[in-house]
Amino acid sequence: MKPSILQKYSDFLPLTDNTPIYTLGECDTPLVRSRVLEKEFGVGALYFKLEGCNPTGSFKDRGMVMAVAKAVEEGSKAIMCASTGNTSASAAAYGAYWGLMTCVIVPHGNIAMGKLAQAVAYGARVIAIDGNFDQALSLVRQMAEKHPIAMVNSVNPNRIEGQKTGAFEIVDALGDVPDYHFIPVGNAGNITSYWKGYVEYNNAGKASKRPVMMGFQAEGAAPIVKDHIVENPETIATAIRIGNPASWEKAIIARDESGGVIDSVTDNEILSAYNMLATKEGIFGEPASAASLAGLIKSVNGGLNLAGKTAVCIITGNGLKDPDIALKAAKPPIKLPSKLEAIEQSLDLG
Ligand code: F0G
Repeated sequence: MKPSILQKYSDFLPLTDNTPIYTLGECDTPLVRSRVLEKEFGVGALYFKLEGCNPTGSFKDRGMVMAVAKAVEEGSKAIMCASTGNTSASAAAYGAYWGLMTCVIVPHGNIAMGKLAQAVAYGARVIAIDGNFDQALSLVRQMAEKHPIAMVNSVNPNRIEGQKTGAFEIVDALGDVPDYHFIPVGNAGNITSYWKGYVEYNNAGKASKRPVMMGFQAEGAAPIVKDHIVENPETIATAIRIGNPASWEKAIIARDESGGVIDSVTDNEILSAYNMLATKEGIFGEPASAASLAGLIKSVNGGLNLAGKTAVCIITGNGLKDPDIALKAAKPPIKLPSKLEAIEQSLDLG
């Protein structure tokens, strides 16, 4: 049986004797070495951390297993979150496991179909508002203040605590920190978590240094890069369609303390990286996930020399969550009669 991450990293997590230890199979995700892109972009060693291999298909399960454990410990009967999709899928799953009333607020029309299907399937109360993620988050904050409901967005520190285990796993797998850590940035909880994890491991003597944190927002939703709130964020990567990130300041601390950058990538750069990942490495991440690779490519093309360096790109969510984009971004299937010759001809075998 897979051990609970709560047990594995108990020394670093806010556990008490009353915290329930359980698992839905989250964490211990693969760190896969690049075969093609590493050489193409001159990286010493390039790895992809496949967070889509978590039980609900995204990195959110790391934080959710911890946040929901604490909610249960504290006697909560209900949990709530705002989400661009993945947090809602994860909250719905962990809420279902514990029999909690789970309510998720999502932006109507701007959540990938797979994620909506998950939240509904796990039995959450799904509210789709005529507004964006930032507005949904504000509503959830008000609800949690007024009612005895545990908020499980990443403003809940227990989410950050759980998510920082991603950094521990990378160090445990590589034997030390990578030189560079590339990551998509939306609400900025994940970059905050990874930085916290790397710093704690370094302080505990489990890593010799800290990595340079390279965060990437989508160009149409890049408040940190622009240094102002974006009222109407827009991007094809709906997971990171956020104009006022909750962990804004903490992301800036991660950037500055690590000597890194938070930059933006265009939707075209995201889609190009998304295609490369799938067709050249056999890794199907969702569009927002590809912002990490898109950022690496942009950085290298802009003069960053990664020769002799180790870099990790976090692939935050599974590509199956957003089948609409997958079908739009690739060649359509070929429709043919059920005949051998027709297939041979179409494959141009000579
Ligand atoms: N990648 C994916 C697949 C995401 O779902 C998210 C965030 C991010 C990256 C960005 O991470 O917010 O910690 O900076 N999704 C949230 C949600 C907002 O509601 O599912 P972040």
